[in-house]
Amino acid sequence: MIYNNLEDVKKFRNPEFEISPTILKRWSPRSMTGEAIDKNELMSLFEAAKWAPSSYNEQPWRFLYATKDSSNWQLFFELMGEFNQGWTKNSAALVLVISRNNFAYNDKPNVNHSFDAGSAWENLALEASEKGLVAHAMAGFDAEKARVDLKIPEHYSIEAMIAIGKPAKKEDLPEGLQENEKPSDRKKLSEIIKEGVFSFDN
Ligand SMILES: Cc1cc2nc3c(=O)[nH]c(=O)nc-3n(C[C@H](O)[C@H](O)[C@H](O)COP(=O)(O)O)c2cc1C
Repeated sequence: MIYNNLEDVKKFRNPEFEISPTILKRWSPRSMTGEAIDKNELMSLFEAAKWAPSSYNEQPWRFLYATKDSSNWQLFFELMGEFNQGWTKNSAALVLVISRNNFAYNDKPNVNHSFDAGSAWENLALEASEKGLVAHAMAGFDAEKARVDLKIPEHYSIEAMIAIGKPAKKEDLPEGLQENEKPSDRKKLSEIIKEGVFSFDN
C-alpha cells in the first residue's frame, strides 16, 4: 500500500486543529521504484524550493544533484551511509542541500542560513508530495567526504541529502524497513508551545 491520499494518511495522523491536507499528506517514504523522473518534474521541485522565504531574501540555499542515469550518480551515492544506500539505490535523484554562511552583499554572517535552507527543503518536499513523488531528507551521509568530492568551498554549510523518486509498494522494501513505511505521528501541541516565557520540562 502507498499512503499518499488524505484518507489513508489520516489513519496514522490526527491533527489537533484543522490544517491544509498538503501538509498532513507529506511524509518520508523509503520505497521507490528505481524509475527515472521527468526532468521538468525534477526542476519543478527546485522551483518550489526557490520560493521559500529567507532573511533579507538572501536565498542562501544551493542544491547539487545527480540523477541515477547520469555520470555523477556514483559520486553522490558513495556519500550515503550503508543504511541509506539500502533504499536510496531505488531513488531517481540524490540532492545535496548546502547553504551560504555569509550574506553575499556584505559578507557578514547570516545566522539564519540553515533555517532558510530548511524552509526551502520543506517547500521541495511539499511539492514532491503534491506531485505523488517521494522526497526523503537524510543526515546519514558523509558530509566531509561530500565537501571534498563535490568540491564545496568552506563558506558553504552542508545541510542534508534528499532522495527523490517514484513511490513503490512497502513490500518492495527489505523486510526490516517495511514496518516503518507509514506516515509518522507528532508530539502534542502542548509539548511544543508555551505562551510567554520558557517553561518546557527539558
Ligand atoms: C534533516 C533530516 C535528516 C534525516 N535523516 C534521515 C536518514 O538519514 N535516514 C532516513 O531514513 N530518514 C531520515 N530522515 C527522515 C526522518 O526520519 C523523518 O522525516 C521523520 O521521522 C518524520 O517523518 P515524516 O517525514 O515521514 O513525517 C531525516 C529527516 C530530516 C528532516
